[in-house]
Amino acid sequence: MFNATSLNRCESPVPSALARHCCALIRVCSGGTNRTNVGGPASSFGIWHEQADEARDVLKTHNLRCVRIHSHIGSGSDPAVWQRVAGLNLELVRKFPDVTTLDLGGGFKVGRMSTEISTNLQEVGQPIREALLEFERETGRGLHLEIEPGTYLVANAGSLISRIQDKVTTGTGGYTFYRLDTGMTDVLRPSLYGAQHPLVVVGREQDPVETEEVIVVGHCCESGDILTPAPGDPEALQPRLVHQGRIDDFVVIEGVGAYCSSMCTHGYNSFPASPEVLVTADGGFRLIRRAQCMESLWEREL
Ligand SMILES: Cc1ncc(COP(=O)(O)O)c(C=O)c1O
Repeated sequence: MFNATSLNRCESPVPSALARHCCALIRVCSGGTNRTNVGGPASSFGIWHEQADEARDVLKTHNLRCVRIHSHIGSGSDPAVWQRVAGLNLELVRKFPDVTTLDLGGGFKVGRMSTEISTNLQEVGQPIREALLEFERETGRGLHLEIEPGTYLVANAGSLISRIQDKVTTGTGGYTFYRLDTGMTDVLRPSLYGAQHPLVVVGREQDPVETEEVIVVGHCCESGDILTPAPGDPEALQPRLVHQGRIDDFVVIEGVGAYCSSMCTHGYNSFPASPEVLVTADGGFRLIRRAQCMESLWEREL
């Protein structure tokens, strides 16, 4: 995998056990904020594009073939960026004659709010298609195109139903807060990168009629556990006009099909929790919490 573009699987023509995964990047990024950019000089993913020749030397030394170039740039919707990424990737493909597959990763932006722009797949895909056909005409190499849409498939396929646990006000010049019985433990996007989700107040007994501007916060004792940050700025509070809720009313957090249950703070990317060791008074070490086993990550799934 190359940075912004990546060289993913490098397969050996001889023993497949020798096949290596090798990643590299071209410096292009497409996330809405720095925290969703996964390409460019501020991103550690993949192999830096200037090291492509070095990567080629490594392949040669170990008698490996690179059959796929892979990139993943972040969640942006700008067709010009996608076009540029495809072009940069094709430059890399030229350097690796065994490549048969170009994988452009995921990151097709899905607007959760009605004001947010979603990726137009036709608009993004057309210039990429043309670039691949042009590449084939020029080089005789017809590439297989792969994509990895995660968010695109599921973002708006899930809602989280929470309840207002408490209402707090900080007086004149302050805010009215709704504290929910969920938060960054379930939906990390707002606190991590100021992502926006529709919030719908549903009365427990009757539909609310009045509206008010509120800050919606999560249940963790972290001022960063917030459901109404300013767009793209998790540091700033942005009051949201919602139907007036009462304690025990529901707040439906919409558009949480992606990066909620599957990518929440616990078990993120299926990483099990680390073990804990106590340093005792005599300088010894005592295991006080076992490492989490992989099975426990999915044992609650039905
Ligand atoms: C390599 C790769 N492919 C695909 C995805 C899916 O991205 P998204 O859910 O934004 O489409 C990710 C997410 O980080 C990724 O790292």
